Amino acid sequence: MLILKNIVKIYNAQKTNEVRALRGVDLEIKDGEILAIMGASGSGKSTLLHILGCLDRDFEGEYILNGKNIKQLSQKELAMIRNNEIGIVLQNFGLIENMSVADNIAVPWYIGREKDKELSKKTAELAEKLGIEDKLKTDISELSGGQKQRVAIARALIKTPKLILADEPTGALDKENSGQITEILAGLNAEGYTIVIVTHDPEVAGRCQSVVRISDGRVEGK
Ligand SMILES: Nc1ncnc2c1ncn2[C@@H]1O[C@H](COP(=O)(O)OP(=O)(O)OP(=O)(O)O)[C@@H](O)[C@H]1O
Ligand SMILES: [Mg+2]
Repeated sequence: MLILKNIVKIYNAQKTNEVRALRGVDLEIKDGEILAIMGASGSGKSTLLHILGCLDRDFEGEYILNGKNIKQLSQKELAMIRNNEIGIVLQNFGLIENMSVADNIAVPWYIGREKDKELSKKTAELAEKLGIEDKLKTDISELSGGQKQRVAIARALIKTPKLILADEPTGALDKENSGQITEILAGLNAEGYTIVIVTHDPEVAGRCQSVVRISDGRVEGK
């Protein structure tokens, strides 16, 4: 369970280039839910997703994730949560270009331990689930946008976090790939994952249990 209370996010506060990206967001997301966040470009969707993913704690208001107030955690506790409880798929993928697909998927796993047999098995399973099993040894720079998107999702899943956050996971894809990625996310939700998808695509939103819109820095529709 995830609760946001009156979240305000201001970039470049009190400077001439100040942006009030979020102006009092209230939102509750239950375990096992699949939620779409929609809204115009620049409305604050990525800003909100970064806060949900604990990548940004520089905001006003409260974020309670599974009973823990995110702002009150130590850096170490926060790092644990980010690495074990949340899988995030960023808008620009955040993949390491001159490294193989398999090594990219494995990145969250390396943190705190060695490469091991279990990792190879899990990487292979996820690659198969995402339809990129023939690309494991390929460098990221040699993949298409749709294939990179699949790697980013596989990486988000390697530690089996309960919460998956995806920022426009079908934004750069054709209809067929978009449909496949949407089905993968819906399938993960059926397995019990809580999923939050930022999207412009009504077809993606249509596969979600609930849909909220961001407008004027606030969330409407839930
Ligand atoms: N690091 C930053 N520094 C300053 N302003 C920022 C920063 N990141 C985002 N903004 C501003 O905050 C507002 C919200 O941006 P955000 O990236 O959250 O929008 P978005 O809804 O994800 O848009 P899109 O659909 O285009 O991805 C925009 O006006 C943007 O210019
Ligand atoms: Mg965005």
